[in-house]
Amino acid sequence: MSKIEVRNIFKIFGPHPERWLDQARQGISKEDLLAKSGHTLGLRNISLSIEEGSIFVIMGLSGSGKSTLIRHFNRLIEPSGGQILVDDIDVMSLGKTALEKFRQQKMSMVFQRFGLFPHRSVIENAAYGLRVQGMGKAERRERAQHWLEQVGLAGFEHQYPHQLSGGMQQRVGLARALATDAEILLMDEAFSALDPLIRREMQDQLLQLQARLNKTIVFITHDLDEALRLGNRIAILKDGELIQEGTPEDILLAPADDYVQSFLQDVNRGKVLNAAHAVNEPSLTLTMRSRPSHALERMAALNFSYAAVLDGKRLAGVLTRDACEHAVRQGARDVAAFVEDMASVPATAGLDEVLSRMLRSPEPLAVTGDDDEFLGLLSRSKVVELVTPALEVAEPSLSEEGDAPGRAA
Ligand SMILES: Nc1ncnc2c1ncn2[C@@H]1O[C@H](COP(=O)(O)OP(=O)(O)O)[C@@H](O)[C@H]1O
Ligand SMILES: [Mg+2]
Repeated sequence: MSKIEVRNIFKIFGPHPERWLDQARQGISKEDLLAKSGHTLGLRNISLSIEEGSIFVIMGLSGSGKSTLIRHFNRLIEPSGGQILVDDIDVMSLGKTALEKFRQQKMSMVFQRFGLFPHRSVIENAAYGLRVQGMGKAERRERAQHWLEQVGLAGFEHQYPHQLSGGMQQRVGLARALATDAEILLMDEAFSALDPLIRREMQDQLLQLQARLNKTIVFITHDLDEALRLGNRIAILKDGELIQEGTPEDILLAPADDYVQSFLQDVNRGKVLNAAHAVNEPSLTLTMRSRPSHALERMAALNFSYAAVLDGKRLAGVLTRDACEHAVRQGARDVAAFVEDMASVPATAGLDEVLSRMLRSPEPLAVTGDDDEFLGLLSRSKVVELVTPALEVAEPSLSEEGDAPGRAA
């Protein structure tokens, strides 16, 4: 279900945006518009659908329009054209009082520079949104206390912001946003001012909180690693235009253009992509009851030197061609006694972990899902290709669908 729906938003900054809207629609460049009119094209024809309960990341270089876009959601900025729906409410239709209420109740914001009041204590800062909502003192203190505990700040209630580290100050910012119980959190570069280690801790904490709270979170960053760690979906902006929108995998596996590609350069792909991305659909599977001669025939036809053996949907083991020939020579009725254990990796295992398993052993690896379900064999060449896309990998001769170099007899 869509929580925030953005439809064909245009934003032109300057004294007469309406005069230039048509030209913006017709595609005049940002530079030309500025030269011709002194107006700045903030956003051009942005449409997005942000699902309830998801973390939606907006990414782009500085000046690409991220803050402009997020400020439309609570109408801190009004669009020059287009529509914003939150829970199917057209935010442009709200009158002054309704808008105030909407801002207080539906959304809360976490800012890059924390935005704390220096002369108020930690607990007063955390309770601020509740005070604005008109909640009584005892109740708001209790609520603020609860959220300070949730973000790991118990014991710091009576400190002042300057007595806290950057990471702790931002935890206060987060507690303040969560305390209002708003369904939507808007986080504009909320972690960008923090040191890398603290930043990572904050990302983990946000993910842990989100697993319980299930808010709709719009998170702005210019850091792709952060986007990939946090985002269920990611939108990439450039010069006010939406260049690509999709899941982290969509973006990693099929970057729309060189701009997106340039963000991908330093990304740790081995952490973001997992075994499920490098699985070959099984083209031959056997069961314990398979007849040896039949199994051998099928392996020979496909030029495979082994095949996975299943028990229902679950992986039971592997039958090598050698073992299968052995079974034929012995006149066995089925392959059961000749099946060996097969190593497997869960579909969710990161490719860096998979790669290290791969390097330690030339044995084929199965990829398994929930309840040991067999999903297919790991493709070694796909793993290498995904982890190091810039390298031209010499294709090994594909003697079996898992394309492992070989299996010890
Ligand atoms: N109030 C404003 N008046 C004029 N131009 C603005 C204003 N706010 C933003 N802009 C312009 O809109 C573009 C997008 O800015 P912004 O949304 O702040 O980018 P980001 O958050 O991605 O760094 C920039 O070119 C910026 O100069
Ligand atoms: Mg910004």
